Amino acid sequence: MNKYNLGYWENFYKKFFYNKPSNFAKYILKKKYINKKSNILEIGSGNGRDTFYFLKKKINCLSIDKSKEAISRNSKKIKNVFIRLDITKVSKKKISFFKRKQIKHIYARFLLHTLTSKEEEKFFNFCDQVLVKNGLLFVEFRTTLDPLIKIGKVLSKNERFTDHYRRFIEVKDLIKSLKRKFKVIYYKKGFGLAKFEKDNPNICRLILRRK
Ligand SMILES: C[S@@+](CC[C@H](N)C(=O)[O-])C[C@H]1O[C@@H](n2cnc3c(N)ncnc32)[C@H](O)[C@@H]1O
Repeated sequence: MNKYNLGYWENFYKKFFYNKPSNFAKYILKKKYINKKSNILEIGSGNGRDTFYFLKKKINCLSIDKSKEAISRNSKKIKNVFIRLDITKVSKKKISFFKRKQIKHIYARFLLHTLTSKEEEKFFNFCDQVLVKNGLLFVEFRTTLDPLIKIGKVLSKNERFTDHYRRFIEVKDLIKSLKRKFKVIYYKKGFGLAKFEKDNPNICRLILRRK
């Protein structure tokens, strides 16, 4: 587990109740990337705001998060959707469990930049193992052009620590590292896509097809 974030998300979900769906979730449904008869596995679902949106739109959804607080709050609202799991430590038994689900789509919003690069590698390995062939992977994350890179303790070139850890992602390096397993079918980068209160991050959206 990322040592810089120990306990951070547990406390965060005791006081974060914003429940509107993200623009990214709305975008992928609007553009019909997801067939309604299909399914989504959300990873790093937080307070479940996008999962609840997908469910409302009648899309079958399973969601993973490592935060006990978030999973227990969400599970009080609906049973058998939210699973507490650290995506960087998934057992073979759990991998088989997800494989049996025939996952067609994986969705991870604002997760990648909370992971170290080693953890990111584990995340993509997990996706590669459980996503069906030609399945789609949707990711949205902060890039190296994000203004928040200018604040906090400098841990390395692209890693910062404020009250929690962030790793600002170099998009071209990420795409290069994924080339063998995933094909990029949609790419967008910039400001204005994920404004929230005073934060107008520079983010990247990628939609990847598993080869
Ligand atoms: C920035 S929040 C994003 C939440 C949600 N996707 C959203 O857009 O509102 C990142 C989430 O990823 C979860 N997370 C971080 N590392 C994780 C890991 N290794 N395994 C599973 N979930 C993780 C955190 O608990 C937190 O809920």
